[in-house]
Amino acid sequence: MKDSIIKQEDKAHIWHPFDQMKNANILPIIKGEGTYVFDEDGKKYIDGFSSWWVNTHGHCNPHIANEISKQVQILEHVAFGGFTHPQAVKLSKRLAEITPTDIQRFFFSDNGSTANEVALKMAIQYWHNKGKARNKIIAFKGDYHGDTFGSMSATQIDNMNTPFEPMLFDSVFIDPPQKENRTAVLATFEEELATNEIACFIYEPLVQGASGMLMHDAGILSELIGLCKKYEVLTIADEVFTGFGRTGKLFASNYMQEQPDIMCLSKGLTGGFMALGITAVNDKVYNAFYSDDKSKTFLHGHSYTGNPIACSAANGALDLFEEEHTWENIARISEKQAEFSAKMNEHNLVNEARNLGTILAIELKTNEASSYFNDKGKDAYKFFLSKGVLLRPLGNVIVIVPPYCISNDDLDYIYTQIEDYLTLQEA
Ligand SMILES: Cc1ncc(COP(=O)(O)O)c(C=O)c1O
Repeated sequence: MKDSIIKQEDKAHIWHPFDQMKNANILPIIKGEGTYVFDEDGKKYIDGFSSWWVNTHGHCNPHIANEISKQVQILEHVAFGGFTHPQAVKLSKRLAEITPTDIQRFFFSDNGSTANEVALKMAIQYWHNKGKARNKIIAFKGDYHGDTFGSMSATQIDNMNTPFEPMLFDSVFIDPPQKENRTAVLATFEEELATNEIACFIYEPLVQGASGMLMHDAGILSELIGLCKKYEVLTIADEVFTGFGRTGKLFASNYMQEQPDIMCLSKGLTGGFMALGITAVNDKVYNAFYSDDKSKTFLHGHSYTGNPIACSAANGALDLFEEEHTWENIARISEKQAEFSAKMNEHNLVNEARNLGTILAIELKTNEASSYFNDKGKDAYKFFLSKGVLLRPLGNVIVIVPPYCISNDDLDYIYTQIEDYLTLQEA
C-alpha cells in the first residue's frame, strides 16, 4: 500500500529520535483524547507508555488545555534573564510546598536532560565557588540521565554512548543497591566518598527507567544519601521519570528518609503537554552562588527558560494532583499493575516482572543478553500496534506506564494482548 502524504513527507524531511531511520516505520498520529491517540485512518490506540512516560492526566486533558489556551492570549514568552511572570512564580511557590522541605529554589530549563545537565553543572560549580577541587560524579551502573554531554557522562547503559565516550568525563559507577549486595555497595560507595574527589551523587530513585525499569531498595538508597551528607557530597535525585505519581507517591524520594539537595523534574511536570525542565535546589546549593563576586554566578540559561505557556501547563497539571480522583486512579492502576505483575512472574516465557506504583515491566526470556539493544521487543511492538496498543519495549522488556485516566477495561485489554503475544511465542 502506498504511504500517505504525511508519511511520504515525513520520510523526505524528518530525522526521528532513537530510531534507525533506514528501517523506521513511523506512524502518523493526528489526534489525542484521554487514554487514546488516533492515526490518519481514525484507528484508535491506547497509549500504554504515556508517550515516552510524559503523559499523566490523558491526552488533550481539557483543564490543562484550557489553562494553556488562557495563557497564550496573555503572554506567550518573555526572557527569563532579568524578568519574571506570574505563572513561573505561582509554579515555584507550589513546587516549594510539595518538594522536600529544604528545597525552595527552582531553576528552569526545557527537558529532562537539561534539568540534569544544570544539576551537574551546579554541583561542579558549587565546589569551584568554595575553592575546592571536586570534579567527579558518582552514579549507578544502568542509570540513564539524558543525552546532553554532562548527563551522558553520568549515564551507563549498555553501549548507548559509545561514539562519545572519548569526550565524556570520568564518572564512578557502582552497583545499584539490593538487599543481597548491601554491605558491598555501602563499603565501595563510602570508599569513593572518602577520597574527597566526589562532587555529587546523581541517581534515578528506586527505578532505572531506560534500563528496563530495574528497581532497587529504598532503605539502602536512603543510607547512601545519608553517607553523602556525612562526606558533604551533593545529592541529585533525577525524578524526571519517577516524579508526579509514577511510583505511587508524588515523588520516589517520598519513599526515603534522607532527601536530596537537588531534584530534577520534567516529563509529568506539565502533564505531557509542554517541554519544561526544572532543577530544584536547597539553600545550601543556592547560597554557594549568592555573592558579590560575579565569578560565582551560574552562567547558564536557555532562550525559552521559564516559558509562560509551559509553566501554565505545569500549573494546570498540578491542579489535577490536588484532586482526589487523580490519587484514586493512581492507587487503582497500581493495584492492577501489581496483580498482573504477579501473574506474569509465573509465566514460563517471562524472566522477571517488576512493578512499583503505576509502572510495570515484563522482562522476556531471550537467548541473547538482556539489553536495550535486544531485538526481542521489536516484534512485540508491531504486534501491540496491530492490536491498537502503543507500547515501546526497551530491548526485551515490555513496559506499561499508562496515563492515570486509563480505565480498568483498557488495562485489561493491554494485559490480554500481552498474554496473547506470549501464547503466540509459545506456539
Ligand atoms: C530518569 C530520566 N532522566 C532523564 C531523562 C531525559 O529526559 P529528556 O528525554 O526529557 O531529555 C529521561 C528520559 O527518559 C529519564 O527517564
